[in-house]
Amino acid sequence: MGKGIYFFITAALVCSAVQGNHHHHSDDDHAHGKGHHHDHGHHHDHGHHKGHGHHHGHKHHHNYSLEVQSANAKFAFSLYKHIAAQPDAQTKNIIFSPLSISTALAMLSLGAMGKTHNELFQGLGFNKTDTTEAEVNEAFEQILQSLNQKKELDLSVGNAMFIRESFKPLSKFLEDIKHYFHSEGFTVDFTNTTAALHLINKYVEDKTHGKVPHFLDDLNADTLMFLVSYIYFRGKWEIPFDPRDTSQDIFHVDDNTTVPIQMMHKDGSFDVYHDKESSTHVLRLGYKGGVSMILLLPEREVKDLEESWCREHLRKWHRSAKKQRVSLSLPKFSLSTSYSLKDILSEMGMKDMFERSADLSGISKDNVFVSKVDHKATLDVDEVGTSATAGTGIQILLGSSLFPPPLTLTFNRPFHFVISNHETRSILFMGKIVNPTGK
Ligand SMILES: *[C@@H]1O[C@H](CO)[C@@H](O)[C@H](O)[C@H]1NC(C)=O
Ligand SMILES: *[C@@H]1O[C@H](CO)[C@@H](O)[C@H](O)[C@H]1NC(C)=O
Ligand SMILES: *[C@@H]1O[C@H](CO)[C@@H](O)[C@H](O)[C@H]1NC(C)=O
Ligand SMILES: *[C@@H]1O[C@H](CO)[C@@H](O)[C@H](O)[C@H]1NC(C)=O
Repeated sequence: MGKGIYFFITAALVCSAVQGNHHHHSDDDHAHGKGHHHDHGHHHDHGHHKGHGHHHGHKHHHNYSLEVQSANAKFAFSLYKHIAAQPDAQTKNIIFSPLSISTALAMLSLGAMGKTHNELFQGLGFNKTDTTEAEVNEAFEQILQSLNQKKELDLSVGNAMFIRESFKPLSKFLEDIKHYFHSEGFTVDFTNTTAALHLINKYVEDKTHGKVPHFLDDLNADTLMFLVSYIYFRGKWEIPFDPRDTSQDIFHVDDNTTVPIQMMHKDGSFDVYHDKESSTHVLRLGYKGGVSMILLLPEREVKDLEESWCREHLRKWHRSAKKQRVSLSLPKFSLSTSYSLKDILSEMGMKDMFERSADLSGISKDNVFVSKVDHKATLDVDEVGTSATAGTGIQILLGSSLFPPPLTLTFNRPFHFVISNHETRSILFMGKIVNPTGK
């Protein structure tokens, strides 16, 4: 078995005890009434379910996955823009799992109320007029279940909560987090930070098949609860690269810098599209089992594309990509990233959860707040997991003069990627490769 393509990501949230008794009044009365509103007064047809027209007004007949998928994609691009806008991000690779981060925040939102909840709900791309919290939770459950069920895919997404021995979260929170997010639960003695750190890191390491061995560097001894969301994906290209065609080449990090890389090469028929509007070459590489990687090679700077792209572009690229002969060169790489998301999420409007006055009264009657949100990701791209088989084929081609010359796509300068699952339209991973050698 070869290595194939591996991806792992984890996102985590830490809730620390609030010292001092900061009494807090919710400034949003609705928040405490949030729950299962199965009212039938609203009309929720967004044109997605043509066959369900006669169910108008009956929310429970609607499949809310579509609203959640669309919100998740909106969140993904918004988060990307905020990460890319950080100081010195232009010279750094970006790799993260939008799905993992939105799942972790959605879990947290189960216990959030008032302003804290509103910020999370909006920050995740939802609109209270369109979707209730209960519908969002059900949709997350469907999406996670659907992704985990793919037999032909090596993909797993899952969640866990690590709870301090003496801490008793409200039972509704525990029930909901288990029900909707299938979260595993562990009791931990956080006063022994070494042991607690080891336990959490071991969990993440196991779930990512060893790819994220040091998820946390440190842990606060006052931690009450730690939420983890992980995703593991291993895909084999539908059309693998031949390792014999891989050779030493150079990658242009910027105008003045090149780095040596291993460049894979393949001539073949690939789904491509030239997006004139954004001056970008789009290439879609499929994995076996309904997941694909969209690779974007902007004609100008990657910066121009990332300032303007959004989920509608992704839809357009998927729709427009057509088979064409391509002479493709793509670097082989193995990268990892690490993000501390507190400032970024705060910038995106989700800041109340980081305040000591945060309203997480759905988790506990004690005042609790989020002290950090961390994310680590890894991405390995190679020729493919090849198992040994043999076949003999005689390829008969038409004379090349009948065809236009193949398009040459050489990913030897910064480019973007998005990995998504077709059925649930979930953006599993996205990012930017500025330097495949990882400096
Ligand atoms: C929420 O949705 C409603 C109706 O679809 C719309 O009128 C409103 O502007 C939206 N609010 C936000 C904050 O997007
Ligand atoms: C912390 O846990 C480790 C591993 O379980 C153990 O060896 C050590 O004695 C513990 N430390 C304290 C102070 O209890
Ligand atoms: C490349 O070098 C030129 C001349 O030294 C300099 O003006 C330019 O800013 C450099 N470009 C980058 C991207 O570092
Ligand atoms: C809802 O849609 C998702 C994604 O399209 C699908 O996986 C799921 O099976 C659907 N659920 C129901 C109950 O139809």
